Amino acid sequence: MRYMGNFTFLHLAIFGVLLSICSVKGNYCEVNLCDNGGTCVMAVGDDPFICICSDGFAGDTCNLTETGPCSPNPCRNDGSCEAISPTRRGDVFGEYLCRCQPGFDGAHCQINVNDCANQPCKNKGVCRDLDGDYTCQCPSPYVGKQCHLRCTALLGMEGGGILASQLSASSIHYGVMGLQSWGPGLARLNNQGIVNAWTSAADDRNPWIEVNMGKKMRMSGIITQGASRMGTAEYIKAFKIATSFDGSSYSILRVEGMRHDKCDVQWAWLKCRSRKSRLPAMFTTSRVFVANIDNESTKTNLFEPPVVAQYIRVIPVVCRKACTLRMELVGCELNGCSEPMGMKSRLVSDGQLTASSAHRTWGIDSFTWHPQFARLDKQGKTNAWAAATHNRSEWIQVDLEKTKRITGIITQGAKDFGVMQFVSMFKVAYSDDGQIWTVVKEQNGFKEQIFLGNVDNNSHKKNLFEPAFYARYVRVVPWEWHERITLRMELLGCDD
Ligand SMILES: *[C@@H]1O[C@H](CO)[C@@H](O)[C@H](O)[C@H]1NC(C)=O
Ligand SMILES: *[C@@H]1O[C@H](CO)[C@@H](O)[C@H](O)[C@H]1NC(C)=O
Ligand SMILES: *[C@@H]1O[C@H](CO)[C@@H](O)[C@H](O)[C@H]1NC(C)=O
Ligand SMILES: *[C@@H]1O[C@H](CO)[C@@H](O)[C@H](O)[C@H]1NC(C)=O
Repeated sequence: MRYMGNFTFLHLAIFGVLLSICSVKGNYCEVNLCDNGGTCVMAVGDDPFICICSDGFAGDTCNLTETGPCSPNPCRNDGSCEAISPTRRGDVFGEYLCRCQPGFDGAHCQINVNDCANQPCKNKGVCRDLDGDYTCQCPSPYVGKQCHLRCTALLGMEGGGILASQLSASSIHYGVMGLQSWGPGLARLNNQGIVNAWTSAADDRNPWIEVNMGKKMRMSGIITQGASRMGTAEYIKAFKIATSFDGSSYSILRVEGMRHDKCDVQWAWLKCRSRKSRLPAMFTTSRVFVANIDNESTKTNLFEPPVVAQYIRVIPVVCRKACTLRMELVGCELNGCSEPMGMKSRLVSDGQLTASSAHRTWGIDSFTWHPQFARLDKQGKTNAWAAATHNRSEWIQVDLEKTKRITGIITQGAKDFGVMQFVSMFKVAYSDDGQIWTVVKEQNGFKEQIFLGNVDNNSHKKNLFEPAFYARYVRVVPWEWHERITLRMELLGCDD
């Protein structure tokens, strides 16, 4: 027989409601066999009945008084309780000490410390407080955890570090009876000569020019310049930017804005109200960069925030005379990238976590091992994700909401009412759209990699992805496990 102590009356009340409205496997006993106000539930697992004890009682039939000041745990926010004096006098508990998780303070860890309080973000970065952590949203060209790094190297159009073979375009203008070729290899800032820039063909309706950086780079801006051809100034007045990791799927740089939907208050009011469209809505639209005004002067545009990509494409929107361009890219190499992505700090919110199924201990709803619990170091009775079945088609998924660079994963098991459970081997898959998945392969490239996971209920196991991958969705697919598939985790990477 098993028991549960530390159970609050609120839980009991909820539990009772759940029992009565849902047909859970457990059911009330005809005769209450539990002492001290415990609730008796029948037919769960192999036990004839179990007792869910009220606060302060324990034992199979709730006939034992819980001992010690740490039972139930008085510490909040996953703080752990340490008894200083194990003795107990009457109903007065002895002394205890709460050891708080980082980011929490107070005698009972009840205070969520504002990690933004001492302004960790430099250079006008905007700080957001998390559980035990913070993130900075950096204005271009600053990057890094604290916006302390400048990302302003010239990437080699003018200097020649970027080779002509890395440049391509939708079309080329051929001048002087086809003898002059205004090819993309000429699109270099301050290029001199009679033929000194890229120009698209006159009949090209969708012109573009592209740089393949050869590897992923962080780009914080672009400097553009026109040119003059046969005594006439030609230049791009406005353009858009598209980027890609693979040269086949592109995304256009966008800006966020607020939209106030108009509603006909007379009679469309209900409709507007029901669609919530009376509230200002966030929307995104492709960003149009204002560029040049003559043949010679340069214009610098910064990307907000800097983008990471291997391919960057300039798409002229308005050109004077012809789409003629000389340019330089501004950016920097990617650097260390192993920040926790926010499972523990809750930067990843509950809505971003889903799973194939969730186990309910003894079939009881209030003991559901939700995917939202799969947070590294989570505490509590149900403090991890657990799958409903023991099979390899189970998975848990994180939606990072935008493409990020993922370099590693930390996994952890848990225990289900005293039983140690963990995932000892797993695979990892990732996706840009949540539909088409790529399974992480071994470094030699063919076999799907099986990562070694946990060996106990508590220790952290770290695995690195080599090479790292870029994805919005990450899935963990348990492959081998001990007892039940049970997981707490953290992803490592950066916002690139
Ligand atoms: C609690 O009940 C169990 C059997 O249900 C019994 O063996 C045990 O002695 C009881 N303990 C106390 C302190 O009453
Ligand atoms: C190009 O720019 C230079 C310097 O601003 C100017 O002197 C020249 O007249 C311009 N040429 C054309 C064709 O507009
Ligand atoms: C895994 O479980 C699901 C649901 O119970 C079942 O449909 C599927 O056949 C199982 N797969 C394996 C490999 O056992
Ligand atoms: C779980 O881990 C903790 C800390 O590592 C250990 O003290 C405990 O015995 C483990 N529990 C089980 C059921 O193995």
